[in-house]
Amino acid sequence: MRRRDFITRIAASAGTTYAVMQALDLIEKPATAQKSPFQLQRRGGSKSIIILGAGLGGMTCAYELSKVGYQCKILEARERSGGRCWTVRTGDKFTDTLGQTQTIGFDRGQYFNPGPARIPYHHVTIDYCKELGVPLEVIVNLSRQQYIYRENAGSLSGRKVHFREAIADMRGYISELLAKAISKDAVDAPLTVEDKEKMIEFLRTYGGLNPDLFYKGSSRRGYSTYQGAGDAPGVVDDPYDLSALLELGFAGNESFEFGFNQQMTMFEPVGGMDAIAKAFEKQVGRFITYGAVVTEIRKTPDGVQILYKDKSGNVKQETADYCICNIPLSVLKDIPSDFAPDMKEAIASVEYAVTGKSALQFNRRFWEDDEDIFGGITQTDQDITQIWYPSTGYLSQKGVVLGYYNFGSTAETVGTLAPADRVALALEQGSKIHPQYNNHFENGFSLFWSTVPYSKGGWAEYTTDVRTTYYPRLNQPDGNIYLCGEHLSYLTGWMAGAFESARLVSTQIAAL
Ligand code: ALA
Repeated sequence: MRRRDFITRIAASAGTTYAVMQALDLIEKPATAQKSPFQLQRRGGSKSIIILGAGLGGMTCAYELSKVGYQCKILEARERSGGRCWTVRTGDKFTDTLGQTQTIGFDRGQYFNPGPARIPYHHVTIDYCKELGVPLEVIVNLSRQQYIYRENAGSLSGRKVHFREAIADMRGYISELLAKAISKDAVDAPLTVEDKEKMIEFLRTYGGLNPDLFYKGSSRRGYSTYQGAGDAPGVVDDPYDLSALLELGFAGNESFEFGFNQQMTMFEPVGGMDAIAKAFEKQVGRFITYGAVVTEIRKTPDGVQILYKDKSGNVKQETADYCICNIPLSVLKDIPSDFAPDMKEAIASVEYAVTGKSALQFNRRFWEDDEDIFGGITQTDQDITQIWYPSTGYLSQKGVVLGYYNFGSTAETVGTLAPADRVALALEQGSKIHPQYNNHFENGFSLFWSTVPYSKGGWAEYTTDVRTTYYPRLNQPDGNIYLCGEHLSYLTGWMAGAFESARLVSTQIAAL
């Protein structure tokens, strides 16, 4: 097997390639068990590489490959780098594919991340932030003070239930039921007598049960009147009924944060997500041509030829030994190309997440002032789905709240409204949870990712079938063209997917 084929085949298996790449000397081995910095080892001569898209994947390829002497050029359709890694601020204009333009009316200093907005602590994204000096702060992905607010959920409908209340009560009831079942030998499990005793003891503590193994409420659920000095012991309300909590049906809301990619600690760059894009731009900006819309991707006998329209609408061309294509598949599928038929089929087969977000600027941080909410995400069964409270600028005057983040058919319904109507809907639904919306709203912004030019979708969403049938093909180069981006990873929908893919593709090319 040729070295290139071998590397490509390994690469296609993805996931745990890092160790294999180290074994093959394609990247430096760590001297100790510590995480090693990523450093390409170039094998071949200096080759030219045309990179399509100055998103994080494309810029990372340019960053890593140019470090070891490759000549990189990047064509970027937008007037800015970063792709979906993007922050909007005062005066920014955004026009969607339908021609609807919004101008951001936030105050100076206020901002919003319409795309990626949180970074898991274990992602390679953190490594790049360290390497490139991007300051991070914690984003509160779960606050016990945030609400579950549902309209069609039995007796708790229309009630603002704090997560702390629902979580403490549900843990209490689950523990009570299980502890009683175990103590009555009603659990069909291979537990020794000692195991049972330990399990009951565990549940007593875990659920906050009384000595008789009943859950009768707990201060863990919080105080409706806070504790204070003198004669203020605080008031703990009775727990909600178990059946009411079951009807509330918040299991998905709570377990969301159990997911490996959603667990605290999570981070965000100070001042906006685009700090990451800007940090890469500082390294590779000299390679980028902006306003370059790729119109054709062609193979040549020894490389690639790319046609694009420049800012003035003139068709231009670039040739190179290799092409790294960082264009989302949702856009790539419509660009005329010399991709092989099986590659074209694979490109067209991957669905993209249907999703939208809105941002609302308020002139008072009522969620903090009135409700003691500092970061976190309220969950609701209304179309707005979520409200995110800012994890920055605490105790200051104004703030930008995420007014909705929705998915699938809900996102489609909301996203197809005119931008002003989307904001109106965010206000109407959000004000049921926070009536203060009505007095303190200043301006808003919204977007529907399916109508964002050069993105046309949130992120790649693989079904098991598509992952099995098409993903391996997408991971193989087609001639001298390599695909790159979050869609070429098991971390779809995360910036880390783009970084991991960029490292993989750069390694493959450097090994040739
Ligand atoms: N990674 C994206 C999120 O956390 C999809 O919402």
